[in-house]
Amino acid sequence: MDDDIWADLADRFADEAYASVKGHVRTYVMHHQLLDHLPPAPASVLDVGGGAGHQSFPLARAGYEVTLLDPSPAMLNKARQRLPQLSDEARQRVTLLEATGENAAEAVHNRRFGAVLCHGVLGYLEDPHPLIDQLCRCAAPGGLVSIMTGNAHASAVRPALERRWDDALAAFDTRHEIGELGVRGRADTVEEVGDLLRAHGVEPIRWYGVWLFVDWLEFSGAELDPNDTQQVSATAAVELEAAQRDPYRQLSRAFHLVGRKIRD
Ligand SMILES: C[S@@+](CC[C@H](N)C(=O)[O-])C[C@H]1O[C@@H](n2cnc3c(N)ncnc32)[C@H](O)[C@@H]1O
Repeated sequence: MDDDIWADLADRFADEAYASVKGHVRTYVMHHQLLDHLPPAPASVLDVGGGAGHQSFPLARAGYEVTLLDPSPAMLNKARQRLPQLSDEARQRVTLLEATGENAAEAVHNRRFGAVLCHGVLGYLEDPHPLIDQLCRCAAPGGLVSIMTGNAHASAVRPALERRWDDALAAFDTRHEIGELGVRGRADTVEEVGDLLRAHGVEPIRWYGVWLFVDWLEFSGAELDPNDTQQVSATAAVELEAAQRDPYRQLSRAFHLVGRKIRD
C-alpha cells in the first residue's frame, strides 16, 4: 500500500475500539449473525479488508479455513500479533495476504470461497462498485457474501446524540462524515448495496443492524465498563435481538447484509 493510512490507526482500531463494550457487541452480534448463514466448517472464508482478524479469527476458532486479505501492512501486522491468541490448530487455518480488495480475485488466483466477508471497508471507498464486483467473483456457487457498512438512513444519529444540532440537521442529506477514527467515511443503504450484489449474481437474503443501545449510550456520554463481563454479555444479548428486528435495526448506524451467490 503506497500510503498506509491504517498505519496510524491500527493500534487505536485493533486494540482500543475492539476493547470497548461496543467492540465486544460488534464481534458477538456479527459472529452470531454469520453463523446463521455460513456453510458448515471447515468451509473456506475470505475476509476482505479483514484488518486484525477480529471478525474472522473467531471463525478459524470455530473450524473455518480463513484467508484474511488486507492492503495495509500495519493491519496485517496487527493480525499477525494476534495469531498467538488462537490455538495451534486454529492458527494453521489462517492465511494472511497483502492485497487490495479491488484486486482480490487475482490475489487469490481465482479461488472461490464458501463465504466472502467485507466488514467495515466499503465506507472508506468513494465508489463501492469495483470492490463488490470482486467480493461476488470470489464467492463459490451457493457461497455467502457478507457486507457490513455504514447506514445512510441513520446519519443524523451520532451528531444528534453528541448535541451537534447543526451537524445533525445537515446529516439527514449527507453521506459523509468524519468517523470515530478520524477518517472521512461514506455511508450506503441496504437497498443500494443489495442492488449492487444482485447485479453481480448474489441474491440478498437477510439484513441486520449491528449495534444500537451501546452506540447511543456512548455518544451521549455514558461510561460503559468492558470489564463488567455480566453487563457486557447482557448488553450483547439485547443488541443481538434488536439487530434483527424493525424498527431497531433501521436505526443502527451500521448494517450487516448477507447474500447468496446464485449465478456467475
Ligand atoms: C475499519 S477496518 C475493518 C477491519 C475488519 N474488517 C473488521 O471488521 O474488524 C478497515 C480495513 O479496511 C482495509 N481497507 C482499506 N481499503 C481497502 C481496500 N481498498 N481493499 C481492502 N481492504 C481495504 C484497511 O486496511 C483496514 O484493515
